[in-house]
Amino acid sequence: MERHREKQVPHVLIFPFPLQGHINSMLGLAKLFSLAGFHITFLNSDHNHHRLLCNADLAAWAARRHGFRFRSISDGLPPDYPRVANNLMPLFDSLKANTKPILRDMLVSDRKLGSEHPVTCIIGDGVMSFVIDVAEEVGLPVISFRTVSACSFWSYFCIPRLVEAGELPFGDDADMDRAITGVPGMESIIRRRDLPNFFRAKEVTDPGLQLVWAETLQTTRSSALILNTFEDLEPQILSHIRVHCPTTYSIGPLHALYRARVSDSADSTDSSSLWKEDKTCTKWLDAQPNGSVLYVSFGSLTVVSRAELVEFWHGLVNSQTRFLWAMRRDLVDGGGDMGQVPEELVGATKERGFLVEWAPQEEVLAHPAVGGFLTHSGWNSTLESVFAGVPMICWPFFADQQINSRFVSEVWRVGLDMKDKCDRETVEKMVRELMLERREEFMKSAEKMAALAKKSISEGGSTYMNLEKLIQDIRTMEK
Ligand code: UDX
Repeated sequence: MERHREKQVPHVLIFPFPLQGHINSMLGLAKLFSLAGFHITFLNSDHNHHRLLCNADLAAWAARRHGFRFRSISDGLPPDYPRVANNLMPLFDSLKANTKPILRDMLVSDRKLGSEHPVTCIIGDGVMSFVIDVAEEVGLPVISFRTVSACSFWSYFCIPRLVEAGELPFGDDADMDRAITGVPGMESIIRRRDLPNFFRAKEVTDPGLQLVWAETLQTTRSSALILNTFEDLEPQILSHIRVHCPTTYSIGPLHALYRARVSDSADSTDSSSLWKEDKTCTKWLDAQPNGSVLYVSFGSLTVVSRAELVEFWHGLVNSQTRFLWAMRRDLVDGGGDMGQVPEELVGATKERGFLVEWAPQEEVLAHPAVGGFLTHSGWNSTLESVFAGVPMICWPFFADQQINSRFVSEVWRVGLDMKDKCDRETVEKMVRELMLERREEFMKSAEKMAALAKKSISEGGSTYMNLEKLIQDIRTMEK
């Protein structure tokens, strides 16, 4: 009887696109499923697997969890291939050409070996539709997880509408402030410059634009869609998406949902960072007045030119605000050397700044000293800031970030959109506006949004209930 019941436990294989932003939310879901008693296989690229498990807390966490295992698979690229924002096309191609057949073989041979707990459901990253192909071939149910905002996913969905309405491509008309009307639910919100950066393509046949559209359309083939957002954040947009993907579970912010379920336990200390977190910044933050520090981070993929980096730095220094900057070693385009930094910047940084290569971001945003976030508007960073009630200055770099930043400034009103500019005067002006001149206004809306986020993850809240439903639905799938 016991043995029979054990056999009923679902085994979910979760496969994120091999980048930090995708791993974070999908690993968050894997951990929540593990808490619900599921068996989990979390599949990483070989490249990320080793980096992730250098994190002793995470390795120890996985070892403690019955039925949880990490596995790895080749992404087909050499180890030293630079996996940053302006180099991602070959990663997409290689995963499809090289990883897809390995995944298929892995599932087929597991089945032949007659595992006691065979995989019963696959959750694949929605930008890798080949996972749907493989699931169909081996006869397993598949759910797509899109790690971006609902608003960006919906705009991807509307590419054909935009083309039909003559709003895409932009053509030679350089007016980036022209309003866009072809995305239902956003008629009075977005301009050309607020569409995801792939939409800036000159031709509809542009490979990047085509890839985004093709992958988005494939989502409708999977049995359901998971989004890391919450109902009160993107209500209308979710309604539009559900017309095409009726079973859409909005279960964000996942990082907070997981923390809420493991609070007070050792499990809450693990992190999913591919970089080593430098916790010395927490001590520095402890010594700063409440709300006085601007946290600066451009996420895991953004690259800037040296000239842009210096402009940001001058702007921060000239604003006279304290700042903590997570400056990745490969942040400057071309990697490595950022050259000689002007003396006055080094001096001012010693006085009221602190630099780390990689910060414990969730902890930083929750720290009382942090009063603002200069961000690239990656979706995880945006949600983490919303949850922490920290207003943002947005400098979107690519993909979904251009539309996320517009929603931050015009819909949720929790910050400023600095899109397409980063000269030192603009940076200084925006920092002063956020941290001083309009502080009260931004704090008020940030606190309101944070309260809604907290409500969504508490018992009976929308995220809480949607996760319960997802867990139940996967249990039923298995029978
Ligand atoms: C990008 C996209 O913008 C994102 O929306 C998409 O889903 C994935 O690709 P990325 O550049 O990694 O992602 O940004 P973001 O989504 O914000 O994720 C970065 C993650 O790294 C966040 O969870 C953040 O907490 C973490 N981080 C970042 C740190 O822990 N420390 C740091 O110093 C910087």
